[in-house]
Amino acid sequence: MAYTATIIIHLCRHGYKTQALLVLGNRLSSAIFNVRYASLRSVHFLTTNMILQRWGVEKAKELIARAIAENLNVKQLVGTGTASCPGGRTTFSIADLGCSVGLNTFIAVENIVDSIKLKLNPASLSLECIEFQVFFNDLVSNDFNLLFKSLPSERGYFAAGVPGGFHGRLFPSRSLHFVHSSYALHWLSEVPKEVVDPGSPFYNKGRIGYATAPVEVYEAFVAKFSEDMERFLNARGEEVVGGGLLAFIIPCLSDGLPPSQCSLPAIGDVLGSALMDMVHQGMITEDKVDSFNLPRYHTSPKELTAIIERSGNFSIEMMEVLDRPPMPEVIDKSICFRMMVRHFRATLEGLIREQFGDGLVDQVFERFSKKLEESSIFTDPKYKPGVEMFVLLKRKIA
Ligand SMILES: C[S@@+](CC[C@H](N)C(=O)[O-])C[C@H]1O[C@@H](n2cnc3c(N)ncnc32)[C@H](O)[C@@H]1O
Repeated sequence: MAYTATIIIHLCRHGYKTQALLVLGNRLSSAIFNVRYASLRSVHFLTTNMILQRWGVEKAKELIARAIAENLNVKQLVGTGTASCPGGRTTFSIADLGCSVGLNTFIAVENIVDSIKLKLNPASLSLECIEFQVFFNDLVSNDFNLLFKSLPSERGYFAAGVPGGFHGRLFPSRSLHFVHSSYALHWLSEVPKEVVDPGSPFYNKGRIGYATAPVEVYEAFVAKFSEDMERFLNARGEEVVGGGLLAFIIPCLSDGLPPSQCSLPAIGDVLGSALMDMVHQGMITEDKVDSFNLPRYHTSPKELTAIIERSGNFSIEMMEVLDRPPMPEVIDKSICFRMMVRHFRATLEGLIREQFGDGLVDQVFERFSKKLEESSIFTDPKYKPGVEMFVLLKRKIA
């Protein structure tokens, strides 16, 4: 979803003809509903979000295929079977962490399976000797029913769901060969406690994010992300076999860019300002806003590299910025803002409902929409867009 946000920001900043957007949407939706995914009929998949997010998934597909071709020794990972499978069939285990409900997770895992098969073809290990097991992971609140109802009917793998937070252990030791995660690792396990504690010097009063907060608040988010990422890497370090791969896409800020100058974190301020208006109009209490912060953090390539190197379990094999598709011409701004709000609503509605109650959700997002239209984050050149990093790590052989 963060990728979607970045794409929409890009659309809003650089413009896009409504006509062109609709043509593109039609093309992509027909591509999505190809024979393989004909069973996917949920309205969810028709949202603009999914159409736009498809760009990122396609881009990452090429990189993952390359990563597997260049970095994965399948024979070494799963054994030395031959065309006659003398040792019996062997299992290649894949996990997608923060999979949501589809469609992107299906595209990603299918690409991983296809790329491995392609790699095996010229090798002596026969395809019939390998079975693929895919674990779909997300938080327990994820709609796993929808995920499983949407599973492609024709798939080359066995599917299982694994509920729970990915910052801790989810799988047995040395049981995974390939771990994938897209647009999920910028979500923190929780908001840093000190920023919502009125007694703390880091109390983030009147704001719900760190973009324009005092530096101490920002540092609390930095520390929480670093702690979460270390826990994530340590858990995967236990679960992934030596030589196994961990590939993820994470929305970032360019190195050296202050968060106050990037439209990704700045959007949180716009939502915060809509909430503060509701406080001034007596619709919600100030305490409710002060005790609410967005549990997300956008790292930078340099910061991420340092965390990975410190954790020590994985070597960095690839780290690339995903190219954005070229965005031509003039946009219809109202479409742009509607897309942006729809995207954020999909991501944040649950949190807003939990904090402010069901009755206020529509109000919050209507106000957010108006604030976005008034804001300068898409027009002021001071605000730079975020970048999407594709990162490929290899588990060191202990
Ligand atoms: C923006 S969606 C990305 C979905 C999908 N990977 C994609 O690329 O379209 C982020 C997903 O990460 C999940 N998520 C966030 N924090 C998580 C955690 N600690 N453990 C597992 N899943 C998490 C969310 O529930 C959500 O489904």
